[in-house]
Amino acid sequence: MSLEVEEVARAGVARIQATGAGRPDVALILGSGLGHIADRVENAIRVPASDMPGYPPSTVEGHEGVFVMGRIEGVSVAVLSGRIHGYEGHSPPVLGIPARILCALGPKTLMLTNAAGGIVEDFRPGDLMLISDHLNLTTRSPLQGVNVDEWGPRFPDMTEVYSADLRAQARTEAATLGLGLREGVYAWVPGPQYETPAEIRMLRTLGADAVGMSTVPEATIASHMGLSVLAVSVISNQAAGMSGKRLSHDEVLAACATAGQKLGELLVRLVASFRTGG
Ligand code: HPA
Repeated sequence: MSLEVEEVARAGVARIQATGAGRPDVALILGSGLGHIADRVENAIRVPASDMPGYPPSTVEGHEGVFVMGRIEGVSVAVLSGRIHGYEGHSPPVLGIPARILCALGPKTLMLTNAAGGIVEDFRPGDLMLISDHLNLTTRSPLQGVNVDEWGPRFPDMTEVYSADLRAQARTEAATLGLGLREGVYAWVPGPQYETPAEIRMLRTLGADAVGMSTVPEATIASHMGLSVLAVSVISNQAAGMSGKRLSHDEVLAACATAGQKLGELLVRLVASFRTGG
């Protein structure tokens, strides 16, 4: 399986490079409701994931992946809009392919966004949370299988997956924009079902501040390949059992649509700060 995964990732990189797009400085993977950031890319070259031989198909209608290469505020970027999730049934190494492709293009930084349920009592829908660390509660790793030494070590260190420097930069940019920014630990759960209230109490005891079904595989791949990672959650709902309401995907999408605007501004400013090396 792993060799196959390696071939698929290399074919994806070759497909993008064949467009003449150069090495990006920053790569981004956008979660629900944040696809509009891909519209900010100037001189965009779009490569649909379906053009890449062997690329894992999305099972969620309307979420087909597209890689967008170009510039935001003069900084060269590679953006993936439309991610794949573990709950779609992909094996752990396959789950790593999209991030492998982006990271193998050579950026130094990967920025990730997602929607998450807030576990901290005073987190509210629409809040933004910088991810400071994560809990992988799925027993799965995208690094399972044969290691490709050229990409990274067999046993990678995970002490600082989410760069402290990038988080500091994000706080500075957020303050300039007048945006509040929470910070906390993100728990990755397999889904697709939302949690039970008992599971949320367990997650709180384990040290989780927010819970979701994505991001950790991509952050793990980027960390393996030596990139700096910044990840931001849109708190789309209070986690199960906390608000007296049932959870719904529509509520999640609605919160992302609203908070996605301010997160978009924050990310564009952060990307722009790379122009001056700031
Ligand atoms: N749980 C898991 N994943 C999520 C949630 C949640 O409450 N909200 C958005 N993604």
